[in-house]
Amino acid sequence: MRRKLAAGNWKMNGTGAALAELEALAAAHPAPGVDILICPPATLLHRAAEVAGDAIAVGGQDCHANASGAHTGDLSAGMLRDAGATAVILGHSERREDHDERNDDVRAKARAAMEAGLIAVICVGESLEQREAANTLDIIAGQMSGSIPDQCTGENLVVAYEPIWAIGTGKVPTLEQIGEVHDFIRARLERRFGEGVGRSVRLLYGGSVKPGNAADIFGVPNVDGALVGGASLKADDFSPIIAALESA
Ligand code: PGA
Repeated sequence: MRRKLAAGNWKMNGTGAALAELEALAAAHPAPGVDILICPPATLLHRAAEVAGDAIAVGGQDCHANASGAHTGDLSAGMLRDAGATAVILGHSERREDHDERNDDVRAKARAAMEAGLIAVICVGESLEQREAANTLDIIAGQMSGSIPDQCTGENLVVAYEPIWAIGTGKVPTLEQIGEVHDFIRARLERRFGEGVGRSVRLLYGGSVKPGNAADIFGVPNVDGALVGGASLKADDFSPIIAALESA
């Protein structure tokens, strides 16, 4: 059985005052029936880990592929771990776009994350142009084989399907479209890593998940949770999403 996961990506949002939201979330979910992960900006990681307590995990939003060295401004996976992270989001479309990250960059970062003992939450997803050209599954297949390292297990890998056109737009794919991609990702993982590993990797849907659509999305087979941006910033928005996942 895969334990469901509600993950929040705060992106470049939040200073110390935002920790009050995390505190409220922790108070609302003292013994959650699902895993909860919050990925704040790196500047807040250490404090967030303290505020989050045992019931909520914290993670990074990116890491460098190397363990240390002359890379001004970058953070290694070991540093995130040292600050209290247990996971890191990698290959988010905003990183792929803003920083020109390629599949092999994401793969090297994921390898570093796994070696440091972090869960790698690897993001894949098509653009609107690619979906309209009916290329979605080819794009996902290419991103998966390029970005996911060989040494993954059911424990250290989470795959997030995030159609780029659904991120921050309020547009969500149909449940059939989500189901098609998640089934495809599951089948490819099973083929590459075997049924044991392939069936234990958790698959998240991400892109405009809100309290109002979460329950429907969580009813789709092979959706094991969500990676939530905007609606993870406020406890009052994220909490009902967590509750929907608990009762899915
Ligand atoms: P959103 O972002 O929930 O604000 O659409 C999702 C994401 O980018 O992870």
